[in-house]
Amino acid sequence: MTRRVLVTGGAGFIGSHVADGFLAAGAAVTVMDNLSTGRPQNIPKGAEFKQLDVGSEEARRLVQSGGFEIITHLAAQVDVRVSVTDPLFDAEENLLALLNLLEGARAGGTRRIVFSSSGGVVYGERKPPLSESAPKLPVSPYGVSKLAAEYYLACYSQLYGLETVALRYSNVYGPRQNPHGEAGVVAIFANRLKAGKPLTVYGDGNQTRDYVYVADVARANVLAADAPLPPPDGTVDARAFNIGTGVETSVVALAAAMSAAAGVPARVEHAPARAGELKANAVDAGKAARLLGWRPAVPLAQGLQATYEWIRGEAS
Ligand SMILES: NC(=O)c1ccc[n+]([C@@H]2O[C@H](COP(=O)([O-])OP(=O)(O)OC[C@H]3O[C@@H](n4cnc5c(N)ncnc54)[C@H](O)[C@@H]3O)[C@@H](O)[C@H]2O)c1
Repeated sequence: MTRRVLVTGGAGFIGSHVADGFLAAGAAVTVMDNLSTGRPQNIPKGAEFKQLDVGSEEARRLVQSGGFEIITHLAAQVDVRVSVTDPLFDAEENLLALLNLLEGARAGGTRRIVFSSSGGVVYGERKPPLSESAPKLPVSPYGVSKLAAEYYLACYSQLYGLETVALRYSNVYGPRQNPHGEAGVVAIFANRLKAGKPLTVYGDGNQTRDYVYVADVARANVLAADAPLPPPDGTVDARAFNIGTGVETSVVALAAAMSAAAGVPARVEHAPARAGELKANAVDAGKAARLLGWRPAVPLAQGLQATYEWIRGEAS
């Protein structure tokens, strides 16, 4: 029998690729999304679409009665700055909605939930590359809500035997990322290059990030749906997996690589450093390699090229 997979946030950037991945693996996919930042055109043709808020009563009923073996939960408030200016909204979207989903899932007999966490925010300022067991002290309410969500998952796993996995992504980039938001420097750079504008670098541009391609992240979700899980070890890290390349790329190096991908000379303008930005971030994904059989496959230059091609084909 075809198994049923629910992808929350499947009209968004990463979630739409996750939905593609499960469809390619032969699953029957339902996308649940309230289209707050997602776009209908991102939803794969083969998926069923339910326009619902994950925090709603209707969503809980669907999760309870839908016969979903797997839920991949990507729907979220994803903007770090919004979490700082409106931490209550962040908690509603990223914690209360998750609890609604978990309550539906345990009543509905879902086997496993794969949660999108963030290796860019749960650890705070630490020397890279970070392993899952690194100390955690998030510096934004968004980081706190991601880490708290992992604790809720671990708790539901203990209470009800629900299988739960947290994937801690580094900076994800690729086609369908919104180039107009605050997140997603790759998409923003690609869009500015398309418009012939210089790339804005905040501060000295030596701050580093670990850029992982979205198709690789989608594959991690598909693998995480079925991989045997490690036994509990008394920490929230037992069932968390970093998903990244471990490679640090500075913003100035990214600007140069993105310009090369677009085939234009790099033009950079500097703006004052932004408060609260991490100096360095990269994750060690060795555990995902060992236990999920996951390794990043798409080199940065190739991924940037694909992203630029996509942005070029989009209406501005
Ligand atoms: N982009 C990254 O680099 C990155 C890094 C680490 C973690 N993540 C996580 O990955 C997930 C996907 O992020 P993304 O970059 O694709 O963002 P996105 O904004 O493109 O996708 C989020 C999707 O969730 C939907 N959504 C938001 N709130 C909802 C709600 N209450 N009910 C139903 N749908 C709702 C939005 O409409 C959107 O389609 C998020 O959980 C995010 O925190 C992203």
